[in-house]
Amino acid sequence: MRALQFSQYGPASVLAVSEAPEPHAGPGQIRVAVRASGVNPADTYVRAGRFQEWIPLRLPHVPGVDAAGVVDEIGDGVTTVRPGDEVFGITDYAQMGGANAEYAVLAAWAPKPAALSWEQAGGAAGNIETATRVLDLLGVRAGTTLLIEGAAGGVGTTAIQLAVARGAAVIGTASDRNHGFLASLGAIPTTYGSGLAGRVDALLPGGVDAVLDCAGSGSIPDLVRLVSGPDRVVSIADINAPAYGVHLSRGSGPGADSPALEGIAAAGELAERSRFTVPVAAVFSLEEAAAAHELSESRHARGKIVLKP
Ligand SMILES: NC(=O)c1ccc[n+]([C@@H]2O[C@H](COP(=O)([O-])OP(=O)(O)OC[C@H]3O[C@@H](n4cnc5c(N)ncnc54)[C@H](OP(=O)(O)O)[C@@H]3O)[C@@H](O)[C@H]2O)c1
Repeated sequence: MRALQFSQYGPASVLAVSEAPEPHAGPGQIRVAVRASGVNPADTYVRAGRFQEWIPLRLPHVPGVDAAGVVDEIGDGVTTVRPGDEVFGITDYAQMGGANAEYAVLAAWAPKPAALSWEQAGGAAGNIETATRVLDLLGVRAGTTLLIEGAAGGVGTTAIQLAVARGAAVIGTASDRNHGFLASLGAIPTTYGSGLAGRVDALLPGGVDAVLDCAGSGSIPDLVRLVSGPDRVVSIADINAPAYGVHLSRGSGPGADSPALEGIAAAGELAERSRFTVPVAAVFSLEEAAAAHELSESRHARGKIVLKP
């Protein structure tokens, strides 16, 4: 099959489309003919060799952890789907890859909502798992007031909508050009950087009672002060968060939290009721994957980056 691969760690230019052995569905898994798959910041870290100690890989490696496609092979024990069904989901997190190819094996999936295009569904599942996991950790529910630092990216746009669906009020930080975009997703937008506490107080008198850090920009001390302690802050992006007593949540690797896989089907149902969408920042072909990785590395994509095989 055709697959995006790299044979050595390095910059985006190590990515190339070449022939790879077809993967097959193991017990409890399915294989899909991929219609679209996602690019996440973690794919760029894996490619650059930053996760080598944590997650040892065999090279060549096929990147990508989320995909949407048509089921064409079913592993032992799977009874919920049949060949020909349209699904979206994630690959085995332990492998941190396998999605950016003609065929991918999924370890968790849900029916593809008709309300989402292939591109939207292809890049959705990893962000849904992450957002669900951290909203659960923070206990976000009806009445919660939540600040999302770094709200305009893949995880932030997902977390806004899932939190609003739970009945939370959400303030999201982004650059000015993304404020209308955040408002369209249900968040109250504000700018990140100095003076955040004052802006949050002006927007939601009484402040917020939980904070999700998706930015990893060094603002953890300010975020902790906003909620008067580290317990009400969770970061997914700042390796220094634990130094401030803040939980750094991971979905894979040593010390990972349990992945919130049930969130994929729940978000799919919200999409069918027009309460969840996936803003797509850009769509690339597999051959253009280096440009897709470079856009991710710019850290200013608005929403999700998607590859089409
Ligand atoms: N631990 C986990 O389980 C896990 C899972 C998924 C992702 N992550 C990590 O979480 C982070 C977010 O992932 P993602 O997929 O959402 O990334 P992403 O899509 O690349 O995020 C891009 C967004 O970040 C915003 N941004 C850039 N600098 C910022 C700053 N200083 N303050 C606030 N926002 C800023 C940008 O908004 P503007 O253009 O408006 O600045 C842009 O829209 C990454 O570091 C990723 O590695 C961790």
